[in-house]
Amino acid sequence: MSGMRPTGKLHLGNYEGALRNWTGLQHEYECFFEVADWHALTTAWKDTGELRSFTRGLVIDWLSAGLDPDHSVIFVQSSVSEHAELQLLFSMFINVGALERSPTYKEWISEGLEPNFGLLGYPVLQAADILIYQADTVPVGKDQLPHLELTREIARKFNRLYGEVFPEPKAKLTEFPNLPGIDGRKMSKSYDNHIYISEGPDDVVGKVRRFFTDPEKKRKGDPGRPEICPVFALHEIYNPSETETIAGDCRSGVLGCVDCKMKLSDELNEMLEPIRARRADLERRPTEVDDVLNDGNKRAKQVAKKTMANVREAMRIG
Ligand code: TRP
Repeated sequence: MSGMRPTGKLHLGNYEGALRNWTGLQHEYECFFEVADWHALTTAWKDTGELRSFTRGLVIDWLSAGLDPDHSVIFVQSSVSEHAELQLLFSMFINVGALERSPTYKEWISEGLEPNFGLLGYPVLQAADILIYQADTVPVGKDQLPHLELTREIARKFNRLYGEVFPEPKAKLTEFPNLPGIDGRKMSKSYDNHIYISEGPDDVVGKVRRFFTDPEKKRKGDPGRPEICPVFALHEIYNPSETETIAGDCRSGVLGCVDCKMKLSDELNEMLEPIRARRADLERRPTEVDDVLNDGNKRAKQVAKKTMANVREAMRIG
């Protein structure tokens, strides 16, 4: 089980950090993938105008990237109200101090976000998301480990108090190279240095052209230092068979940055081609996304309802 907040289009960093991994896992596991729109609300409650279109856009990105509704349950958090019920029940026995110590919460508060109840309860809602599907494995990035630890604590405490209902889920860390963006920093929405997975071929060329390179390599012929060049870092990921040649030719000066970037654009465009093809296919079938979500929401709700029946029984409530 895993989820993403719908906060805008996905870029290559999101793809390598999570989505590529998810598309593989769906053939090994029974998977639940959630659009966490309530989690997005915890920081975006003031302006919800784009929430629905972001939710839909995220599902289109997922399906384009290869998530397959025949193999995975793809659903929207706010369509399965049982998550909220479970969060409420968990909130009875969770210590507020533990939530205040959560790194994500502290970070958001230090950035000036209001210390709202929703924000404090973010990891409790996440625990409800995970445990309501009796998930044993949660593919996430390192930043989510504290949330997973709290989820495990909640599962243990619930089981101790009321009887065995939940398995203790394990994080499955996504091993992926740190993907640099246009300015050489980590690719991120907040740095505005990204390439979207929905980018067209010409936009990819345009964005790759803007990438930073070794500032001391001013023109072809100058020796370059691949080890500090973000374009080279991307070659290492997307063009592994040629990296040695590229590194050698960059150092000797035979390869100029313009040509090196053209090569990278070609690689990226080749990688993105099947994603684009699936997106185009989806656009030809406009009801597809609704069908996927109607079905996914229904299947998620079925499982969630069953767990809630066990939870109510264990807690002796109606
Ligand atoms: N908090 C996660 C993130 O920001 C998103 C998320 C919500 C999630 N519910 C989840 C991840 C359940 C894994 C499992 O990335």
